[in-house]
Amino acid sequence: MGIGHTRWATHGKPSEENAHPHANASGTLMLVHNGIIENYQTLRHQLAARGYTFSSETDTEVVAHLIDAEYDGDLVQAVKRALRKVSGTFGLVVMHARHPEQLVAARRGSPMVLGVGNGEMLVASDVAAFLRLTDKVVYLEDDDVVSITRQEFVIDTLADERVERQAQQIEWQPDAVELNGYPHYMLKEIFEQPEAITNALRGRLLPGEGIANLGGLRSVLDRLKEAHHLVIVSCGTSYYAGLYGRYVFEKLTDLIVEVEVASEMRYRKTNIRPGSVVLAISQSGETADTIAAMREAGRKGALLLGLVNVVGSTISRITEAGVYNHAGPEIGVASTKIFTSQCCILVMMALLLGRCKHLSITDGMEIVAGLERLPEQIAAVLKQADYIRTIAEAYARYRNFLFIGRKYNYPIALEGALKLKEISYVHAEGCAAGEMKHGFIAMIDENFPTVCLATKDTTYEKTLSNMLEIKSRNGKIIAVATEGDEEIAHIADHVIYTPPNLDFLQPIPAAVALQLFAYYSAVARGCEIDQPRNLAKSVTVE
Ligand code: G6P
Repeated sequence: MGIGHTRWATHGKPSEENAHPHANASGTLMLVHNGIIENYQTLRHQLAARGYTFSSETDTEVVAHLIDAEYDGDLVQAVKRALRKVSGTFGLVVMHARHPEQLVAARRGSPMVLGVGNGEMLVASDVAAFLRLTDKVVYLEDDDVVSITRQEFVIDTLADERVERQAQQIEWQPDAVELNGYPHYMLKEIFEQPEAITNALRGRLLPGEGIANLGGLRSVLDRLKEAHHLVIVSCGTSYYAGLYGRYVFEKLTDLIVEVEVASEMRYRKTNIRPGSVVLAISQSGETADTIAAMREAGRKGALLLGLVNVVGSTISRITEAGVYNHAGPEIGVASTKIFTSQCCILVMMALLLGRCKHLSITDGMEIVAGLERLPEQIAAVLKQADYIRTIAEAYARYRNFLFIGRKYNYPIALEGALKLKEISYVHAEGCAAGEMKHGFIAMIDENFPTVCLATKDTTYEKTLSNMLEIKSRNGKIIAVATEGDEEIAHIADHVIYTPPNLDFLQPIPAAVALQLFAYYSAVARGCEIDQPRNLAKSVTVE
């Protein structure tokens, strides 16, 4: 029996004293906690007045002492009584020397899943943590308190009611969490993209009808057809997928589309009202800001949808309908295969709605054919990995990068910059190519290279002009361009070619080229790849 927590410092610096597990004074009770105890200062003062002393600055340690103060021989009841005094979020696991065969876990706001193994029980904040040991999972709900022994589990609510929750079978294969010969999960996941896209598309396209068939949206399709207003809400890479989605929804449907960063939307007055559709995009389905923004949108009467990878996650449960990525677990902190999978699914959602409205069958058939070409087009980019590595190595000494793109390529430029900064810690910013002249270009000189997304579309000529502006300021250029474009090789210092497709689909393989560029840049700099400093895979706190 054991507990542990890889902690992302929210209270106090990352030090041994502040590291989990935290204990009561005698060391008989230990706990790990994910989340934030909001009233910890008040509780700390109350406990201090009763003679408790603290050895860390954390909010978590307060809970250890609080449970100790409530303990009278029954660990479950002590945990419940303590947690009733707590406000904030928690996924916590408690062990006690006098209960050597028992763990007590509880959640509110932070994710927590129970794995039912063969003669063992596992509890974690993400199923990927125990997928090697079991594929039977019980998703705990807010305010569940579970008492676990090797053979069984019993779930009560904080209000002392017994609840039954069924174990569900996870589809993910156990070897999905192995490196399978790759040096890093990020590289493995980049190379999994042809398969991830195939899985996203599988069974969801009707080529003869030129339409997508998304089973998860069937129950709400009539309401979607009547909708005029779509708000996409997400964070990080999922936010950039949302920005890409906006362009595609605007092209293929008549919806008014807004894209919101969840941490901003949750505190703003918005235009969301009954009849609005709010779509959360989230790999984990557990991002605290996205969950909070969705709850706000639900309060305003919107139809809540999810585009989520983790089946059974909180967002999948608080939304009325949605689509799963079916991309398998993503372990590398920097999201790669989920981004391209999200983009493809957004195209399918827009195609479905567009075809239910004004979009013609011939246009629809062309889009279906374009989507079906993506796995092999991504594979063609992956074949250039060695070439992209040599470019990344050639630029490894630069400390600043600009990424530019227009229209569908603009979100890809932002995502390309995010990938680079996340894992290489170099300064990288993305900008709409047309905005360059309003400030960004001031930074350009021979030490400030630019990555230009310049695949062939209606804005191609404009992007080319931007590249000339960079050249005339001695800026180095790495271009991502459509195969066969020889003109661009006269302007750019390096060109990565991606296969031709519909204008709004070409950015998807282009994104893969930028993922490889970021990956090899970080390797060349000797950076940690899968767990970059200061970042977490699932941000389950505000
Ligand atoms: C964290 C991760 C990012 C991710 C973002 C949103 O910041 O490091 O890779 O894009 O959260 O996560 P979500 O699970 O909601 O897509």
